[in-house]
Amino acid sequence: MDDLSRRKMFLVGGGAALGALGMLGAASANALPRAGTDPKWVWDPEADPVAAKILDRGEVQQVNAALWNWTRNDQPVPDGLPGYVRDFVEYARRMPSWADSRKLEIAAEFNKSRGLYLNLLNGLGGGMLSTAIPKEARAVYYSKGGADMEDRVAKTSILGFAVGSLNAYRPDGSCVVEAVKTRLVHAAVRHLLPQSPHWNGDIPISQNDMLVTWHTLPTYAMRKMLEWKVSIKPADSEAYLHVWQVTAHLLGIRDEYIPADWAAANAQSDQVLPPNMGPTREGVELTDILLGQLAEQTSPGSISRPLCNAFARYLVGDQVSDWDQIRREPIWGPAIKAAWPALVAFREGLLPLPLVPEAAWAIDEAARRYILFYLTKGKETKIEIPDMNRP
Ligand code: HEM
Repeated sequence: MDDLSRRKMFLVGGGAALGALGMLGAASANALPRAGTDPKWVWDPEADPVAAKILDRGEVQQVNAALWNWTRNDQPVPDGLPGYVRDFVEYARRMPSWADSRKLEIAAEFNKSRGLYLNLLNGLGGGMLSTAIPKEARAVYYSKGGADMEDRVAKTSILGFAVGSLNAYRPDGSCVVEAVKTRLVHAAVRHLLPQSPHWNGDIPISQNDMLVTWHTLPTYAMRKMLEWKVSIKPADSEAYLHVWQVTAHLLGIRDEYIPADWAAANAQSDQVLPPNMGPTREGVELTDILLGQLAEQTSPGSISRPLCNAFARYLVGDQVSDWDQIRREPIWGPAIKAAWPALVAFREGLLPLPLVPEAAWAIDEAARRYILFYLTKGKETKIEIPDMNRP
C-alpha cells in the first residue's frame, strides 16, 4: 500500500486513539483530521502542501530571503513572499485561542530562574535522547543539516533559547517566528527526504514523531528536575507545560494530540517514547560528533571529552547511552553522580557550600560555556528552509 492510500485509510478509519489520555483539543471541532485519528498517519496537512509548492517551484531562496529579517513576534509578515506562503504564515503565526498570557509570563520567569538546568536538559539531554530515536536520527543525518552538525545545533538552539527567554511570547520576542519557520522546515523535510536514496521509511516527521520529540523536551526536563529535587511550585510547573503546549501548537502539532496536563503528558510520554527509541548507526555517529563538539567548546584539554561523556550518560541514563555508544568514564562517571546532586542542592539552598565537591564546579563551568557558545552561534545564523538533502 502506498503512503497516500495508507494515510487515507487511517484518516477514515481512525487508529489507536490517544484520545483517552485527555488531550488539550479534544473539543477542537475544526481540526482537519478527525479527532481520534492515529497521529502516526497524520503529518501537517496545512504546511506540507505549502513547502512542497515552494520546493517544486524553486522558490526556496526567495522565501528564505524574505523571511531572513522576520525576527519579532509583532512584526508584520515581510514583503517578497509568494502569496500562498504569506497566507500560510499569517495563518500559522496566530496564537491559539487557549493561550494564557498570564501563564506565559510565569513560565518566562521560571525559565529564567531554572535556565541552567533547562538549557542542559533540553540541549544536551534532549540532544542525546534524539539521537536514540531512530527515525529522528536518520532524518537529521540524511537531511541537509546533517552534513554540518555545528550549524544544525546552533539553528536548533535558536528555538530553544527563544522558548526559554523572558520575552518568548511577548511582542518583542521571537518564539512565534522561530516556531513557524521550523514548521516550514519540517514540512520541507517531509517533501525532500523521501527523495533521498538513503531514505526507505514512511514520510518522516508524523504527528506521532513530533510528540515523541516534544516529550524529550518538557516532559523529560520536568521529570529530571523533580528527580533532582528542584523545588517547583505548582503554578510554575503548570506554566512551564503551557509554554510548551503553545509551542507545540505553533510547530504544527494538532491540538487534539497536545497533552492537557502533566498526568496526560507523562502517560503519553510513556506510551510513545519506548517503542520509538533504540540504536542506529546514524545515531551513534551523530552522538559522537555532538559530544566531540561539546568537549571542544566547553573545556579544551584532555579532561573535557570524558567529562562530557560522563555528564551525557548521567543525563540520559545507561540504556540510552549504550544505544548512543557513549563511553563509560571510570573517573568522571562516579564523580558526577556525587557532585551534581550536591550542586543542585546547593543552588536550591539545601546544602552549605563546603559540602559541594570540587568536581561540581568543573561541570558548572562547562555547562555555562556550553550555553554561551550556542547562544553566540545562534545569533550568527537563522532557521532556513532546506533546498536539498544531505549532499
Ligand atoms: C529542523 C525543532 C521534531 C527532524 C528543526 C529546526 C528546529 C527543530 C528548531 C530548525 C533548525 C534547522 O533548520 O536545522 C524541533 C522540535 C521538534 C522537532 C522542537 C518537536 C517538538 C522533529 C522530528 C524530526 C525532526 C520528530 C524527525 C523525525 C528535523 C530535521 C530538520 C529539523 C531533519 C532539518 C534539518 C535540515 O535543515 O537539514 N527542528 N524538531 N524534527 N528537524 Fe526538527
